[in-house]
Amino acid sequence: MRKNIVAGNWKMNTTVPEGVELAKAVNDAVASAQGLKCDVIVGVPFTHLCAVKQVIDINKVGLAAENCADHTSGAYTGEVSAPMVASTGANYVILGHSERRGYYNETNEMLKTKVDLALEAGLKVIFCCGESLEEREEGKVEDVIRAEISESLFHLTPEQWKNIVIAYEPIWAIGTGKTATSAQAQEVHAFIRSLIAQKFDNNVADNTTILYGGSCKPSNAAELFAKPDIDGGLIGGASLKAQDFMGIVTAF
Ligand code: 13P
Repeated sequence: MRKNIVAGNWKMNTTVPEGVELAKAVNDAVASAQGLKCDVIVGVPFTHLCAVKQVIDINKVGLAAENCADHTSGAYTGEVSAPMVASTGANYVILGHSERRGYYNETNEMLKTKVDLALEAGLKVIFCCGESLEEREEGKVEDVIRAEISESLFHLTPEQWKNIVIAYEPIWAIGTGKTATSAQAQEVHAFIRSLIAQKFDNNVADNTTILYGGSCKPSNAAELFAKPDIDGGLIGGASLKAQDFMGIVTAF
């Protein structure tokens, strides 16, 4: 059966010492929690990966980068490749976040390359998709999600797919305090699962973890996670305080 996951995406927040402190607090809380019903991951800036790796038990808290390059090595000043991320001991990478798509012009085609390089480097991928408010109002939610997922992921084999986690993050709900209702989120998650079933089969679809992201917090996590196709969350703002993050982790 598929895993439940709660992953933090710290985005461009915290200095290295602050990040180390936050990661320690999350690690300690996870280590002392009884009977957690989900895997826990922290997604941190590149600069933090090595230091955070030192203070977590990677068997209890997964470690994700927030991006990787679309090349493996070479003259790409300022970029960080998937093998470099893997060499820090990180085991996940977040790809296709709407902030990367929107501010840094990442396309479905470019993300397809990043996904391939990440998997080749042995990383698991948390692949983000989601529509803007305008696209929702125009009735294009399914078209947007179908294009994002099929153009970047549907060339993978079922074996490779085992290393993919999907995160549905409606852009209008990110950092706005405006959470999708649990019914709105469930509807899109069920659609995503049906796409995967069409491409592969019901078994692959049933085993795929699909996270919700967008203003998820301790007060609304339990209702979201109770939905049959919502297998956890990708958490921005509320992942920056260990107590809030753990409030979501324990919502299962
Ligand atoms: P917020 O939880 O701050 O809305 O961010 C969600 C997100 O973008 C996680 O990747």
